[in-house]
Amino acid sequence: MTEQIRIIDAKDHVDQEVKIGAWLTDKRSSGKISFLQLRDGSAYFQGVVVKNAVGEEMFQVAKELRQETSMWITGVIHEDSRSHFGYEIEVSNIEVIGESSDYPITPKEHGIEFLLDHRHLWLRSKRQFAIQQIRNEMIRATYEFFNNEGFIKMDAPILTGSAPEGTTELFETDYFDQPAYLSQSGQLYAEAGAMAYGKVFTFGPVFRAEKSKTRRHLTEFWMIEPEMAFMHQDQSLEVQERYIAYLVQSVIDHCEYELKLLDRDVDQLKKYTKLPFPRLSYDDAITMLQDNDFDVKWGDDFGSPEETFISDQFEQPVFILNYPKSIKPFYMKPHPDRDDVYLCADLLAPEGYGEIIGGSERETDYDALEERILAGGLDLENYQWYLDLRRYGSVPHSGFGLGLERAITWICHLDHLRETIPFPRMINRIKP
Ligand code: 4AD
Ligand code: MG
Repeated sequence: MTEQIRIIDAKDHVDQEVKIGAWLTDKRSSGKISFLQLRDGSAYFQGVVVKNAVGEEMFQVAKELRQETSMWITGVIHEDSRSHFGYEIEVSNIEVIGESSDYPITPKEHGIEFLLDHRHLWLRSKRQFAIQQIRNEMIRATYEFFNNEGFIKMDAPILTGSAPEGTTELFETDYFDQPAYLSQSGQLYAEAGAMAYGKVFTFGPVFRAEKSKTRRHLTEFWMIEPEMAFMHQDQSLEVQERYIAYLVQSVIDHCEYELKLLDRDVDQLKKYTKLPFPRLSYDDAITMLQDNDFDVKWGDDFGSPEETFISDQFEQPVFILNYPKSIKPFYMKPHPDRDDVYLCADLLAPEGYGEIIGGSERETDYDALEERILAGGLDLENYQWYLDLRRYGSVPHSGFGLGLERAITWICHLDHLRETIPFPRMINRIKP
């Protein structure tokens, strides 16, 4: 019996007859031969239908196929050195499964709003396939990296009573007559995890009611948040750079086909696997910007033009260390020799992609933390459990958060992060 395979496994079946379930993405026909562009979710390749070989009737079936018709294809696999994929199928039989007509996304250009309205179908395109495969690889490599380093994955809740990243960007919801918020970050829970299991990482959706309509902001995005007990900020930076290099190397190693589909410059990516990454203090970053005619003063946060300028001065991702207290959240540990900055860092991606990681050493002192929670206008009642972590065996600890979609946007070299998540949520979009 003919073996059923997926397109991705064609290389193991050269000169064999196989059966493949596929959809038609495009087609070109002449009087004697039809070229069917096929996809099955694992890869894209070409089916060749030769009239003289299959007969008049089957050739007619091939000619009448429409975009996104699903079918069983039977045929023999051949090498095809002209395509990215490297193989094609010489079709002997086509059995239509599901008809398709007037498929809205045609091979011509469409506007972005139209594509986003049809996101459930747009996901089938080659480019979106490549991005989602790379997203999957980065998630896989994340688990592998942290598990290899002795971390355990610990899930943080989505419905919470706390606001780690400030109260202005909260989605509030009614939780049985009590206010609750969609989580902005799993960090505070990860800190409880680190005190229980030493090294943990959370990975889940987080929510920010960001009013900003930029290429870098989603209202729902996925964050990886490692947290480590008995670790200082400088040790955390070493974990961060090794993790980023591991992500990049894993994509290079396992997504060659996808990087080709996206036309990503792999030599450029290879530069990001070299360690260490440069470190620049916030103070020096301000001076660098001022020397280059940026209108910034000490204490300002960086916008995207400033981040792009700074990262353009380096070949690798760059850490900006020790930001002013006034622009960072309450839970960070102050610098031991200065009272105006925290022991924290943001990692800026090269090629103008901006901040991809935010992290810090955490405040361990009970009184200092309580004071800053109150000063931030937060309800102390909701943070008693968090203060408990300082009541019972407080230890130095550090952690960070990587925004997955920001990292994918950079690694895939995309213009906008909306393509990195299957169903993006932005200020003006909650459908489909
Ligand atoms: O810098 P942020 O706000 O840090 C935290 O949430 C910390 N609790 C992390 C930690 O220390 N455990 O966010 C971390 C990262 C940013 O560097 C960025 O990559 C991403 O999350 N991010 C966003 N990504 C997409 N859309 C948004 N609106 C984002 N806001 C932050
Ligand atoms: Mg940040």
